[in-house]
Amino acid sequence: MRSHMCGELNEAHIDQEIRLCGWVHRRRDHGGVIFIDLRDRSGITQVVFDPDTPDSFQVAEKVRGEYVLQLAGRVRRRPEGTENPDMPTGRIEVLGQTLTILNAAETPPFQVDEDEISEELRLRYRYIDLRRPEMFERLRLRSEITRRLRYFLDEQGFLDVETPMLTKTTPEGARDYLVPSRTHPGHFFALPQSPQLFKQLLMMSGIDRYYQIVRCFRDEDLRADRQPEFTQLDIETSFHDEDDIMGLMEAMIRELFAQVLEVALPDPFPRMTYAEAIRRFGSDKPDLRIPLELVDVADLMNEVEFKVFAGPASDPMGRVAALRLPQGGALTRKEIDDYTKFVGRYGARGLAYIKVNDLAQGREGLQSPILKFLPDSAVQGILERTGAENGDLIFFGADKATVVNEALGALRVRLGHDRGLLEHGWRPLWVVDFPMFEWDEKEGRWFSLHHPFTSPKEEHLELLESDPGNCHSRAYDMVLNGTELGGGSMRIYRPQVQADVLRILGVSDEEAREKFGFLLDALKYGCPPHGGLAFGLDRLVMLMTGSPSIRDVMAFPKTQTASCPLTQAPGPAGERQLRELGIRLRKPPAAETGGEAAE
Ligand code: AMO
Ligand code: AMP
Repeated sequence: MRSHMCGELNEAHIDQEIRLCGWVHRRRDHGGVIFIDLRDRSGITQVVFDPDTPDSFQVAEKVRGEYVLQLAGRVRRRPEGTENPDMPTGRIEVLGQTLTILNAAETPPFQVDEDEISEELRLRYRYIDLRRPEMFERLRLRSEITRRLRYFLDEQGFLDVETPMLTKTTPEGARDYLVPSRTHPGHFFALPQSPQLFKQLLMMSGIDRYYQIVRCFRDEDLRADRQPEFTQLDIETSFHDEDDIMGLMEAMIRELFAQVLEVALPDPFPRMTYAEAIRRFGSDKPDLRIPLELVDVADLMNEVEFKVFAGPASDPMGRVAALRLPQGGALTRKEIDDYTKFVGRYGARGLAYIKVNDLAQGREGLQSPILKFLPDSAVQGILERTGAENGDLIFFGADKATVVNEALGALRVRLGHDRGLLEHGWRPLWVVDFPMFEWDEKEGRWFSLHHPFTSPKEEHLELLESDPGNCHSRAYDMVLNGTELGGGSMRIYRPQVQADVLRILGVSDEEAREKFGFLLDALKYGCPPHGGLAFGLDRLVMLMTGSPSIRDVMAFPKTQTASCPLTQAPGPAGERQLRELGIRLRKPPAAETGGEAAE
């Protein structure tokens, strides 16, 4: 139907007869001459119809925005003064000879080149939204990224193996999406939160090197970088240790960045322990582009009478930390109040601060609501340890360590963005040496930090029972500019260790058999040492395309309440369908309509 794509025409095509197909991006009537900007995925070409070709001119008069056209014409140089250097095709135009309307279009709900369209509208008419060149470019880059990742893994001898979508629960820490079984009334499949158990079984099958680009489903609170269904690049290997796996994975990411973005990432990626990341940045996915760090000051607070600080300072679960903001003395009262509100979202009960006006003047040169509570030695210690200079501001967090870490960790990122402190470039990092478990106060039990199939460190095996809180795992996360790109671990491959870990997690033998009996059995029939990792593919594409939201790199994403404005999914099921499935609905409690959302 066409000889060329709209965006590929240039001066080399002058005087050629060509045929194009595409959408009407814009139509302009210039008294006797009609200009049509014709668009396809490659770009836009200007086509001119004049009354000398009356047949096509008459058709061109009828054409409106987003009509689908086929036309033939001759490429010519644009008259002098009418070139558009901003357009790749801006030096030429097509003099239209024949024109066919392949399909008319109603006035679209928004213009393809319109800014500031609400996301609800964009998602409802996603097929129009995807006509926008930046959306196409994101999908194109995504396709290129997956192609190159596949190529790398294929070259390395990895096998692409598919695993079931209708399966049993895989514990990755979210709620499952359930699918009722018609043939087994009262029974349900779970959609996989990840292929974790299947990829481990494949290692037991001797597949040796597995990968899959695979959809995962998690019913959890959504954020800008989370979707209920998302894609993992999922990987597993046998007979390698964590250094081999991390080495191969970072080589893959380095190659990808070099090929797609012409960016040279560091070789090797730096590594940081979980403990150091939390201590310095309050987060296990620190954005290293932000030159701000938390500093512990609890030991300076021994003599302090201010309960807000003294309490957490003497509590083994507490933390008192300072965060110096260079030149933060310029912050207004209102800005400090806003930051106080901001940390409140993370449970912080206040945000103490010291403004450093003039160090030479001692206490007189400082300004702070808490200064009166602090003895000279504490003040001196704080100034030295934070490296404070005139004009700086020092924030403080004092509370349970988890609260201080979350609050000051988030404040650090927020200040980095608000104050324009972000350094340019890409700062990848491995976070290693995670604790196996974290204690959940509310539930009064241990949870896996990664998942229950992650191996403890060999030298920590004896801590499993005696001191689970200090037992570290063989897990590793790849972090890039403050985003957790991927996570993985060496797995448990001995049945006894797996049983011990499940017991510590409070999973009874009976429940373990019922949920993971197949895995526990498989471990007995010749399981190689193995490990792997999964990347969040959408997050990777989001970072590489510089997109503000994960939704911008998915063709048909869900909203923040896990629904689809385009298809109106989820929807009610018919009476007959429900009967076949043996399901009778309860009235939903009024409070439970819709979902939770947090940005
Ligand atoms: P994990 O749960 O860390 O590990 O997931 C791996 C990566 O998947 C991405 N990710 C998400 N992306 C978008 N939306 C979500 N809701 C979402 N949840 C996770 C993240 C994350 O780093 N089976 C293990 C991997 C392994 O041990 O090999 C797993 O799923 O980028
Ligand atoms: P108050 O004595 O409650 O008025 O608090 C004095 C200062 O300490 C104020 O600037 C509060 O914002 C701050 N503050 C109170 N609680 C905390 C806390 N847990 N961590 C850090 N600062 C706090």
